[in-house]
Order: sequence, then structure tokens, then C-alpha cells
Amino acid sequence: MRQFAMVMDLNKCLGCQTCTAACKTQWTNRFGREYMYWNNVETQPGQGYPKGYMDYNAGWDEKGNLKKGGLPRIPEDYGIPWEYNYKEVLNGDAKTLKPDSEPSWGANWDEDEGEGEYPNSYFFYLPRICNHCTNPACLAACPNKAIHKRKEDGIVLVDLKRCKGVRDCISACPYKKVYFNPSRKKEEMGIAGQSEKCIFCFPRIEKGLPPACAKQCVGRIRHVGYLDDEDSHVYKMVKKWKVALPLRPDFGTIPNVYYVPPLSPPKFNEKGLPSNASIGGEVTDEPRIPMEFLKKLFGSEVENALKTLKDEMDKKAKGEKSELMDILIAYKHSEMFKI
Ligand code: SF4
Ligand code: SF4
Ligand code: SF4
Ligand code: F3S
Repeated sequence: MRQFAMVMDLNKCLGCQTCTAACKTQWTNRFGREYMYWNNVETQPGQGYPKGYMDYNAGWDEKGNLKKGGLPRIPEDYGIPWEYNYKEVLNGDAKTLKPDSEPSWGANWDEDEGEGEYPNSYFFYLPRICNHCTNPACLAACPNKAIHKRKEDGIVLVDLKRCKGVRDCISACPYKKVYFNPSRKKEEMGIAGQSEKCIFCFPRIEKGLPPACAKQCVGRIRHVGYLDDEDSHVYKMVKKWKVALPLRPDFGTIPNVYYVPPLSPPKFNEKGLPSNASIGGEVTDEPRIPMEFLKKLFGSEVENALKTLKDEMDKKAKGEKSELMDILIAYKHSEMFKI
């Protein structure tokens, strides 16, 4: 059994959502999937997408018991799409654009908010797809064995011939990366909807093409390949350099999407705070993004990963060679995608 994997370098993500648009136009702009973002890019710290997805107590506990979590509400926790009064503005009947409803939440409602007090405020972008986990909670939770993991590449798929819309897969996934499609009804079988999710663009991979979200990524942050291919960037970053880490390893599903964690500038001391602006700021040894927060997201290995990144960056800056920095610079698509 092989495992196809993705590594995303969070130091280069622009939050441009080109990946989101690539996935949406390819897979989710029709047939009841319109509300779904199989690929989303959220701001962290933040509520994420769907709202508060990390707080559902889903996945596996330390003893290997499945935790059923719960179901996000459609549409409230995903966000109700709204339109603007374009026609009125165009016809001169209104001067400013206004939403056609009174939205109170949406995907990326808290974009770019982050946390911290200026000048020590911080945030970063976290792009997310299904992790095609090695121990998928979605698969284990389905009473109809409608979710399977392919032997040839480890891609996790919903079998729509078996899915009866039970939705335990959605409850159990701690990343909330399975979505319910109420329009996939089969009345003769009493089925009032079915689940759908990121398919890792398997029809493209089978043709030797990278997933749409990776190919279109403007920041060139996404590398894909097989975890046992020692020539692949994913192998080198995950296994050799150990700078790519899974999101929330404590959820127990063993994700196969990995992140190069974000470096951050040092914090200013109290002289740098706005009330003391006239004194000017002095930098401390503390990173702007709190280490405890990064450990919560990426596990305790994040400290070593950041140290390796910093050391290799310093080497490159001095004109020395660095295999890791050359990988992260991502000179050529042909090297980033080993399929
Ligand atoms: Fe299943 Fe969720 Fe893991 Fe995807 S991220 S394989 S949906 S448990
Ligand atoms: Fe969408 Fe394909 Fe990316 Fe999955 S791998 S999020 S299906 S574009
Ligand atoms: Fe980030 Fe790339 Fe998506 Fe832009 S396209 S938001 S750089 S992952
Ligand atoms: Fe199973 Fe989820 Fe369908 S639990 S039946 S795959 S909705």
C-alpha cells in the first residue's frame, strides 16, 4: 500500500484563495455542492471552516476509541452565501453596494483578524483539504462501509453506491472535511442525501497530473508525491528533514497532508507598545506567534522543525548550499509534483 501526500509551506501562503477557486470550479460549483469548500484557506488563530471545527471532540481518543463529535449546522456553521445589489447600483438607484441579507457568519468571516496587541499582533493562513488519513475516523464511523481507502495511493473516497446519508462520517471527522449533499436523494431507497468530500483529484493523479489546488497555487506552497519515494519533495520534507508536520496530530487520524510551520518575527518588548511608541521598540527572543499555539496545532515537534528551518535559512543567506531551502523555494513544478 502506497500513500500519496501533500506538503504545504505555510511561510509562503498568500491567502489568495486561488486553490479554493480551482477546487470549486473543478468539483463543487454544481449539483448541490455549491455551499462546500473541499479546499478552504482559513486565518489562524481563528474559528476556521466550518466554524469552530476543532472543538467538536471528534477523531480518536488515546485508547483508540472513536469519538463521534457532532454535526456542523448547514448553512449556519458553513456560512450562508449572499449577494449584493449590483443592479441597483448599476442603474443609479443606490449609491453603495449592500448585501441582500444580514449575514452574521461566513467562510473567512474572521479573515486577517488574528490575535495579539499591535505591534505584536499576528496571524497566518492555513489552507485545508481532506487529509486522506492513515486512520480515517470518517471511514471507521460509517455503518454502511461506504468509505474506503485505496490501496494504490491511500486516497479516501465515499462510495456513493453504498452511502445512505447517515452522516456519522461527518460527525467523526475532526477536520470536518466530509460534507453532506442534501440534493443527492434516492427516494425509492429512503435516502435523503449523501456525503461527499475532497477526492485528492484522483482522476488527475491517475493521468500523472497534480491536484488542481496544487497546480494552480500562486505561492507555489504545495508539493505532492508518494511518501515512500525518496526522491520526492514530500519524502524529503516529512521524513528526511522533518520540517513538515500534520495538523492536530492529537486527533489521532494520522493525516497525510503536512505543513511546514510558520516562522515569525520576534516580539517587541513593552517599549514597542503603542502607549510607549515615543521610546521606540526593542525586540525580544520570543517569536511573535506563541510557541504554545503552534504546539497545539502541529505537536511538540514544531519547535525542532522551526529551528531546522531557521538554521537552513541562515546557511542559504550566507551563500552556503541548502537542499531544504532549494526545495522550499520550489524552482520547478516538475520537481514539486512527483506523481
Ligand atoms: Fe476522513 Fe476527515 Fe481524515 Fe479526510 S480528514 S480522511 S474526511 S477523517
Ligand atoms: Fe479539491 Fe482536488 Fe484539492 Fe481535493 S485535491 S481540495 S478535490 S482540488
Ligand atoms: Fe495559499 Fe496557494 Fe491557496 Fe494562494 S493558492 S491561498 S498561496 S495555498
Ligand atoms: Fe456512511 Fe457517511 Fe454515507 S456515515 S452512509 S458515508 S453519510
